[in-house]
Amino acid sequence: MNIQEVARLAGVSISTVSKVMNGKADDISEPTRKKVLKVIEENHYIPYAKYRKKEGLKSGLIGLIVQRNNTYSHELIMTVEEVLKKREYQLLIRILDDTETLDEAIRQMQKRNVSGMIINTAGSTFYKNEYFKTVYLSDKLRFEESEKNIFYYQKSEAGRQIARMLLEAGHRTVGAVLLEEERFILKGIEEVYREENLSGQLINYYVAEDMEDIRKNGTHLCIAEDVTAIVCGNVLITGCVVEYAEQSGIHIPEDLSCICADDDHVLECISSGITGVRYPIRQMAKDAAGYLLDLIEQKRQSEIVRKYIPELIKRNSVSKRNAGDYKAKMVIVGSMNMDNLIEGEQIPLNGQTQIAKNIICSAGGKGGNQAVGVARLGGNAYMIGRLGKDSDGRVLYRSLGNHGVNLEGVEFDDFSASGKAFIHIDQNGENTIVVYRGANENLDGHQLARYKVIFQKSRFCLLSSEISREAIVAAIKCCKETGTKIILKPSAIEELEEKLLNGVDYLIPNEKELGKIISGNQSLEEKAEELLGGGVENVIVTLGKQGAYLKNRKYNLYFPSAPFHAVDTTGGADSFISALAVTLSEEKDLIYSIIYAMYAAGITVTRYGVQEAMPDKNTVGIYREEIDALYHRMMKAISG
Ligand code: RIB
Repeated sequence: MNIQEVARLAGVSISTVSKVMNGKADDISEPTRKKVLKVIEENHYIPYAKYRKKEGLKSGLIGLIVQRNNTYSHELIMTVEEVLKKREYQLLIRILDDTETLDEAIRQMQKRNVSGMIINTAGSTFYKNEYFKTVYLSDKLRFEESEKNIFYYQKSEAGRQIARMLLEAGHRTVGAVLLEEERFILKGIEEVYREENLSGQLINYYVAEDMEDIRKNGTHLCIAEDVTAIVCGNVLITGCVVEYAEQSGIHIPEDLSCICADDDHVLECISSGITGVRYPIRQMAKDAAGYLLDLIEQKRQSEIVRKYIPELIKRNSVSKRNAGDYKAKMVIVGSMNMDNLIEGEQIPLNGQTQIAKNIICSAGGKGGNQAVGVARLGGNAYMIGRLGKDSDGRVLYRSLGNHGVNLEGVEFDDFSASGKAFIHIDQNGENTIVVYRGANENLDGHQLARYKVIFQKSRFCLLSSEISREAIVAAIKCCKETGTKIILKPSAIEELEEKLLNGVDYLIPNEKELGKIISGNQSLEEKAEELLGGGVENVIVTLGKQGAYLKNRKYNLYFPSAPFHAVDTTGGADSFISALAVTLSEEKDLIYSIIYAMYAAGITVTRYGVQEAMPDKNTVGIYREEIDALYHRMMKAISG
């Protein structure tokens, strides 16, 4: 547009246009003056900006404020300019860095008499009524009801899509390397894993200060041994990760799946193509610019908040993992006993003789029971213990083997008989147990050292104390050396020095056992607190019909018991421990794992005996909805 065109469109001479613009229009009629002004305004004739401002005419100039660190600024500017050009508006760009505030940039824009503004704010909007001809491009999470004219996407949504894809492909333990401004991606990933009852701990993340930090620390810290997939905050990070993987002989995607939480054509050429997330910047900028012009031209009211969904661009960097890859490996160190179960009206008192209603002889022992519990729930159970060279020993050995327990760590003792337990059950299913340790007592540090390799490959060690003190100490030492988490059941103990418990990850006593470790009149909670002070990470007290109690640095929580009618409570705690270990090793949240374990134990006590009474995954699965519902209720109560 030039002065000739203005004159032509207004049907006047060039000198008439010039006179109008220069305020020398005394000899020009008012209708002609108005006609010239209308043409200038409608066609956004820029050289007359000053004059237009004086006359209160619209400038046809649109301000675009973008953040300097916005990786999409180029795409944004190009798109907005395209839209403006088509509708004969001009673009005034302001790149905002740390030294300039948004308010200052807006003031500058207003000085230039812009007709409207597009503001790309990182994270927040600054909606003010006086800037009603302003639209915002944002990646903010939440908006006030009064906020309007916002076009946004959420980085957390990209995280959610990534998490869903990884979960579908069977990835449970994921690494993430991000910069601080990409933290929302992590939030989305965590949300999805939490919704699936998988704990946040499974995301092995590193939020770096800058790329240098990522190169030095981020990559190798996140690609831990059990991580099967890695999420990179941006394309540069992806490059670092791929380079690190190449140097370390890690193949993408066979050994490690990789997703970039951003997208660029370069991802097509890295490895055999890296899956990325494309943000809807073009569409968003196009819609926002068009919408702003409609506002200016009064074709619409200011009203909307419009959300845009990022798109997953699938390439070849995510491989499938089988459920079997995650089979939990556990080492179980404890007793194996032949259980002699006597059922009567009540547990005999001093001097009383009773007639038994029923007698059952079956394989038991806390270690053996826990190993079977793990195996039945689909975990890999490695038993370490001692049996006698007798018929009980052979029966116990065969029974464990039949349940799929790995027995390479079980040895036969030349001198002692196999362990035995004499169990009385009353009409309410409650029991008392007398244990003869026999060969269990001869399990020693040497035997444990012979099978250290089993500890090395196990995530958890289920340790119970019907063995010698020496073996308990040696097992704890082995766990600490191999990084195996310890779940300790402190049963049949006269006393267990507190110092032995330092570093135990999960201590699971019943109330009586807790009282043996810490005698005195303190409450349950105070005793648990004391144990935490002594270096135990989590204290879980099983309370029978009353449920369970958890104490750790984060929680002080009671769990209701599962709704089952007990006929034989023997082994309920063993079942609880196995289920807890399996669920935790599947990376489920601790609260969820405890609820799941309560149901597994609840099912066990509805049946006689222990090992045969332990449920498999499908049986506990029948109660999945109830378990989920209780978990969500408890989590809501915790966060509410
Ligand atoms: O926890 C139950 C077990 O305790 C029984 O099987 C018995 O053998 C004793 O070890």
